[in-house]
Amino acid sequence: MSLTPRWSRKKPHFPLLAVLLLVFITCSILYNEFNIQQIHESPDHGSARSTQGISFTYVKPNLPKGASEVLDRFSSCNSTKSYSGKKIRWVNPDAESVRRRSTRQESCDVFSGKWVFDNQSYPLYEESSCPYMSDQLACHKHGRSDLQYQHWRWQPHNCNLKRWNLIGMWEKLRGKRLMFVGDSLNRGQWISMVCLLQSVIPANKKTMTPNAQLTIFRAEEYNATVEFFWAPLMVESNSDDPVNHRLAERIIRPDSVLKHSSQWEHADILIFNSYLWWRQGPVKLLWCSEKNRACEELDGLEAMELAMSTWADWVASRVIPLKKRVFFVTMSPTHFWSQEWEPGSEGNCYNQMRPITTEGYWGSGSDLPTMRMVDKVLSHLGSKVSVINITQLSEYRKDGHPSIYRKFWETLSPQQLANPASYSDCIHWCLPGVPDVWNELIFHFL
Ligand SMILES: *[C@@H]1O[C@H](CO)[C@@H](O)[C@H](O)[C@H]1NC(C)=O
Ligand SMILES: *[C@@H]1O[C@H](CO)[C@@H](O)[C@H](O)[C@H]1NC(C)=O
Ligand SMILES: *[C@@H]1O[C@H](CO)[C@@H](O)[C@H](O)[C@H]1NC(C)=O
Ligand SMILES: *[C@@H]1O[C@H](CO)[C@@H](O)[C@H](O)[C@H]1NC(C)=O
Repeated sequence: MSLTPRWSRKKPHFPLLAVLLLVFITCSILYNEFNIQQIHESPDHGSARSTQGISFTYVKPNLPKGASEVLDRFSSCNSTKSYSGKKIRWVNPDAESVRRRSTRQESCDVFSGKWVFDNQSYPLYEESSCPYMSDQLACHKHGRSDLQYQHWRWQPHNCNLKRWNLIGMWEKLRGKRLMFVGDSLNRGQWISMVCLLQSVIPANKKTMTPNAQLTIFRAEEYNATVEFFWAPLMVESNSDDPVNHRLAERIIRPDSVLKHSSQWEHADILIFNSYLWWRQGPVKLLWCSEKNRACEELDGLEAMELAMSTWADWVASRVIPLKKRVFFVTMSPTHFWSQEWEPGSEGNCYNQMRPITTEGYWGSGSDLPTMRMVDKVLSHLGSKVSVINITQLSEYRKDGHPSIYRKFWETLSPQQLANPASYSDCIHWCLPGVPDVWNELIFHFL
């Protein structure tokens, strides 16, 4: 288990299998409650699949409840064949959006900027003062002694972010439900939001429900909630158990969103994400209309597009922009290959203490075809969804990951301990840290 990454960036055709193996080993640290087995693919290996020659049949999402069996972690496919080319039919797929309340079309692009060291105003809260802090993200508590990672402010190039205002944020939330929906990265952003907000609420006026698929932080005085709903693949899947989702294969119902949307449809402000769970190899599709548990198989990017289409159909048909705000948070980058920012080096995010300063730095963990697909789907939704484009700004923050400074649920072997980079978590983010800025961006656009 002491393999170190050895491929050279100059050779674009390094054996994919070797990379998969290495990443598998690196990521096996995440075989626990927050399991994400990530697979890195070189962008050159793009999964362009010719769609020519396939005649699509269209499927309407949101089949009535009870039409199909429940999908859970015990489900399996009875048979698997390759994808037949079915697509999701949107309610109003080509509706020309009149006016985008887009986060991108402002006069200033707040997602383009740089990190500025600012130990006067940051961190916005103390790690130890947040009773809801996660052991996965509490890096100082778990031994990290360089704390500069807590002191960086995001400075857009041509304007300023709206200054974070705790009471101002609570006033926006008064009488409302704010819900994060997604994977463990989104859960980290939710914990960040709760930690940012909770300090002004007296202990007897706030509650947190026990960990479940839906977890709710409630603040009595404001009659407001900040909730997290575990749905890493957006649509119904065999990974919807927030704790036990350590599965060999991913199975989704690409046309089923009802089960999840019934949980989130009454929220006033929704913040979605989805990405890393689609990067683990092929995904099995179990269409609601299929009998006999017959599955189809598709690569992650195209499966994500189907799931996004189902989700987009829900947004297009149910979201009234004046009544509900919907945000989509783009890919959260990983930092597994230090040679991408420091040629010749062999490490990862472990021991990285400063952000990358190269303007426009982009690592191989952020898949451009995925970004283009997300862009395409969101652009059809016009003003109904605002993009929180965190990818570029988070790419700079190789210093922001927990690496070895978090709780690991499995005992580490002596070999691992001798080589800290081998089990470093370069996926999630320390708190206080980068996700606080993602939430400042939410505040900016609310
Ligand atoms: C902030 O950082 C500067 C420069 O690194 C240092 O001199 C100063 O003592 C720090 N202030 C606080 C309050 O930590
Ligand atoms: C509290 O908020 C909910 C919506 O989240 C609303 O239905 C309810 O009327 C509010 N209660 C009070 C007392 O304002
Ligand atoms: C699996 O497929 C076979 C034949 O197609 C069928 O008889 C059987 O009922 C299926 N099993 C399930 C659990 O659907
Ligand atoms: C996010 O920003 C990047 C540039 O940093 C851009 O290429 C991409 O298209 C943007 N994505 C979306 C969905 O707006």
